[in-house]
Amino acid sequence: MKRLKFANGDTMPALGLGTWRSKPNEVYEAVLHAIKTGYRHIDCAHVYKNEKEIGDALNRAISEGWVKREELWITSKLWNDSHLKADVLPAMETTLKNLQLDYLDLYLVHWPVAIKKGVDFPSGPGDFLTYQEAPLSETWMAMETLWDKKLARHIGLSNFNTLKLDEIRKDARVQPEVNQVELHPYLPQEKLKAYCDKHAIWLTGYGPLGAAYRVANDEVDHPILLEDGDLKKVAQKHQATVAQVVLAWGMQRGTSVVPKSTNPQRITENFGALQISLDEADMEVIQNLKGPFRYTPGPAWVENGSPYSYSDLWEENI
Ligand SMILES: NC(=O)c1ccc[n+]([C@@H]2O[C@H](COP(=O)([O-])OP(=O)(O)OC[C@H]3O[C@@H](n4cnc5c(N)ncnc54)[C@H](OP(=O)(O)O)[C@@H]3O)[C@@H](O)[C@H]2O)c1
Repeated sequence: MKRLKFANGDTMPALGLGTWRSKPNEVYEAVLHAIKTGYRHIDCAHVYKNEKEIGDALNRAISEGWVKREELWITSKLWNDSHLKADVLPAMETTLKNLQLDYLDLYLVHWPVAIKKGVDFPSGPGDFLTYQEAPLSETWMAMETLWDKKLARHIGLSNFNTLKLDEIRKDARVQPEVNQVELHPYLPQEKLKAYCDKHAIWLTGYGPLGAAYRVANDEVDHPILLEDGDLKKVAQKHQATVAQVVLAWGMQRGTSVVPKSTNPQRITENFGALQISLDEADMEVIQNLKGPFRYTPGPAWVENGSPYSYSDLWEENI
């Protein structure tokens, strides 16, 4: 397994299992299958509403001796309704209880936007908190106390652009070590990657397969990454699938990838990406693909009377 190393010597497996939209009744088997296959990194979040079932699977895998806790890398994320200082520790405690763990390897601030306690997704202006009401710097200070208490071995961010990363970094006592963002060959995030490389922040790619369900659900009108003709040729050359090629590309660029699947064959297929080594010609083909295409534009955070705008989320020039 390829691993990404942190300043304190800890290492994060470069390939993890995504769990968003994994139905609670399916995620238990998916996590067990993933662990049997060799996955040691599971990407979770409170808002996915399936941490309890993931916890049941982790508990079984650990208690039956398939794997030791310290061999696993478990990430979760602070939901946007818990950005106020007083809400951060209770949110973490809920996640730990659901996952049946006493620490997380990585805890991320899920989005750089805040909503009122108990709101999952905002439906009107009254559901939001502004930056004056919920300053990101205070949320980060509360994240630092989770690190102090060793409840989170590493802390980081998600969906933060370079300007927002600057804001956090300038006052941080504990620097963010990871930023999880949408990342795949149609959205290579060169500018953000250069920034993160410079400041020792690992990027984790979400939607690494291009999250085709968003096209099927009419959330966006973009070409489907896994159907790209040039990627199919690279896959043919390696006797691999396009999914394996795009995951191998992410890992070869020095990022981690968290493809989601609840299908055992696809969980195994995605793990096969670790066996693929792309050459310079392949990397060049991928660099020259069309795009950029963002499959997760995040309209929920800028519509319905939101105080936020897209410039609070995404790079201006990508
Ligand atoms: N931080 C954030 O804001 C954020 C946002 C979005 C996602 N995430 C994380 O990133 C993970 C991955 O992102 P994502 O779920 O949006 O998108 P994704 O991993 O790019 O795509 C998942 C979709 O691809 C299908 N799939 C999986 N393996 C496949 C394969 N080998 N061939 C063809 N189709 C395949 C899955 O269906 P089946 O399950 O049926 O296989 C699912 O519909 C999430 O689960 C979550 O953990 C984080």
